[in-house]
Amino acid sequence: MSAPTSDRPISPAPPAPADDGEQNPSALGTKKYWDDQYKLELKNHASHGDIGEVWFGEQSATKMVTWCKKTFIGEGDEDDPARSGLRVMDLGCGNGHMLFLMAAAGFTALHGCDYSPAAVELSRRLAAQIGLPVEVLSLPEAAPGSGSESESESESESEPESHDASDADEADSPFDFDEEEEDNVRHSRLSLFRLDLLDAASVQAHLDLAGGPFDIVLDKGTYDAISLNSPSARKLFIKHLPMLVSPSGGHFVITSCNWTTEELKEHFAAFEPVAVLPQRSFMFGGRSGQNVSSVAFRVRA
Ligand SMILES: C[S@@+](CC[C@H](N)C(=O)[O-])C[C@H]1O[C@@H](n2cnc3c(N)ncnc32)[C@H](O)[C@@H]1O
Repeated sequence: MSAPTSDRPISPAPPAPADDGEQNPSALGTKKYWDDQYKLELKNHASHGDIGEVWFGEQSATKMVTWCKKTFIGEGDEDDPARSGLRVMDLGCGNGHMLFLMAAAGFTALHGCDYSPAAVELSRRLAAQIGLPVEVLSLPEAAPGSGSESESESESESEPESHDASDADEADSPFDFDEEEEDNVRHSRLSLFRLDLLDAASVQAHLDLAGGPFDIVLDKGTYDAISLNSPSARKLFIKHLPMLVSPSGGHFVITSCNWTTEELKEHFAAFEPVAVLPQRSFMFGGRSGQNVSSVAFRVRA
């Protein structure tokens, strides 16, 4: 399967690591950057159907999805709802691309969140376009966490309304799914919500709304983006993560281009590393040998 899009690493001009082992803050750590990025991607999608950036490339997402399929569904167990119905969450889902691959792979209980309303809307539109039943969940106005995000909201950031796949205005899928994958997509369900992962009250309120923590939590590039905000933001993400991962055997699978495998293991030491997923290296921004690291963790018994 493939998608007509460009592959990009985390940053057009990657910041050098700071002396203390932290990342130097950059624009990619700000909400404004992502709001602008996804507003542009929404426009591009409307004008010529571009699905937007696939961060670290199609291959990185495929490796994560393939590992999840092999580990959680397995050969011949595709129709076992106890496996395919495991609750999946993609943190900072962007355009929703990895969730669509998870749907095509046979996972049926999908969730995605992002703090950028335009990202949530782009995911919703693309889901509807490929025939994946989708809803956007939002908290009642006065609920804790519904309006307490640290950043002020502009008019253009109002919650998108809930829609179903039936409102798809374009019939053609931009993905090259085969028949079985298309069938899987139609039999899956995606819930999206806008959530700032650094706001503990909002995380808890959205967990209550979504029915509790998740069996499989995915992160491709979101921890990287948050690490480019500040060391304290990065540490808040680590602190909030256990709220999101099911205490009964939940997994967290992360892909990063700013942190090595060893650093990821150290940062997420509250979890037990169970696999290092092979990822390619590439060159960009004048720096060579930048690795993409991918590690799967499980909650400690
Ligand atoms: C590098 S992009 C990766 C997007 C997507 N995971 C992918 O692989 O294409 C980082 C994503 O993290 C989101 N993000 C950054 N900080 C966040 C936060 N505090 N809460 C929720 N999402 C955040 C951004 O809006 C953006 O969609």
